[in-house]
Amino acid sequence: MKTLLTLFLLFGCSSISIVAQKFDKLALTPPMGWNSWNKFGCDVNEGMIKETADAMVATGMKDAGYQYIVIDDCWHGARDNLGFIQPDAARFPSGMKALADYVHAKGLKFGIYSDAGAKTCGGRPGSRGREYQDAFTYARWGVDYLKYDWCNTEGLSAQGAYTTMRDALYATGRPIVFSLCEWGNNKPWEWGKTVGHLWRTTGDIFSCFDCVKDHGSWKSWGVMQILDMQKDLRSHAGPDHWNDPDMMEVGNGMNENEDRAHFSLWAMLAAPLIAGNDLRKMSRQTLEILTNKEVIAVNQDQLGIQGFKYTSRESVEIWLKPLHGGDWAVCFLNRGNKPQRIEFDWKMEAIKDEFSKRELNAQRSPFKIRDLWNSDKRSTTNESFKATIPAHDVVMLRLVPG
Ligand code: GLA
Repeated sequence: MKTLLTLFLLFGCSSISIVAQKFDKLALTPPMGWNSWNKFGCDVNEGMIKETADAMVATGMKDAGYQYIVIDDCWHGARDNLGFIQPDAARFPSGMKALADYVHAKGLKFGIYSDAGAKTCGGRPGSRGREYQDAFTYARWGVDYLKYDWCNTEGLSAQGAYTTMRDALYATGRPIVFSLCEWGNNKPWEWGKTVGHLWRTTGDIFSCFDCVKDHGSWKSWGVMQILDMQKDLRSHAGPDHWNDPDMMEVGNGMNENEDRAHFSLWAMLAAPLIAGNDLRKMSRQTLEILTNKEVIAVNQDQLGIQGFKYTSRESVEIWLKPLHGGDWAVCFLNRGNKPQRIEFDWKMEAIKDEFSKRELNAQRSPFKIRDLWNSDKRSTTNESFKATIPAHDVVMLRLVPG
């Protein structure tokens, strides 16, 4: 009897843990890639996706760390007579398997979009009641990343619906990053860690630095609004489970200062870096922002500690992010509409991060300072840091002990 009980505990429990879990270790640092939605909306097709994959490689974005090419809403056609989802045949005449193969041949990974409801936000077939069938279809196509939306889900429990798709993905045996997109409505940071690899914390971003767009029944948010909504969430994020403040709008119409600030802040937040612009025709400035390797290194730091707002002085906020090796990233953000002069005396600041239990004490041990957007500028914490920050811009630094 005792042996039977032991066997049951051993096999019973281990089989439960095999079936019901997410695929671990697929996102030890925040995922980096590109998604079609912010720039193209529903206007997706295989030619554009292939050209984007080509551009990801040719521009050096791949070398900078960008990996996933994700098709958002509206790729869908109808289900066939057995219920299997088909791509829109006019827009994806070669089929999804061929497209995934093309993306993989470039050394990149392939992502797709669905919705927990019966229909996606764009009115295409959703996965409700078809979760396992869809997950197996995606796995057969060679999908590496699923963004799973939350439109038309009346009556569903978010945790339940996302867990069902998690289990369906896991049952396929294919490692697929699972990106939860339920806009923070049901506090996914409280339950998402065991369900997915990243979860949206807010409604949709749009390409504006500091504004709100009212669509009647919902709103979309500017970069500053989304930044403010990240308050108090950092303790929930870490390797393999990230807060997602939405995909980037760099290159989609803000000015260069604003794009630089947006990108720097997403790096400080340890946010997924999912570009949302047209990679086939971006300006030199946009590319330089998206591929700044030192800023990306802050985002991709192996500790995976989300940054925090330390304090503000006039229109300038000071954000900090502890990095491995005792380094720190520091970002001075000028939210104001005119340039702002700052002077920051490192030795006068008592910086203690209760969450990560790390301290930045320049009085006790000095740091060398690198300016991540201006590599010629070097200094140390033995002198006060002085700079004039343009409107809607940042100065971003890396402090290295010694
Ligand atoms: C929702 C999501 C967006 C995008 C659209 C597609 O609004 O939040 O990111 O996926 O749906 O319809």
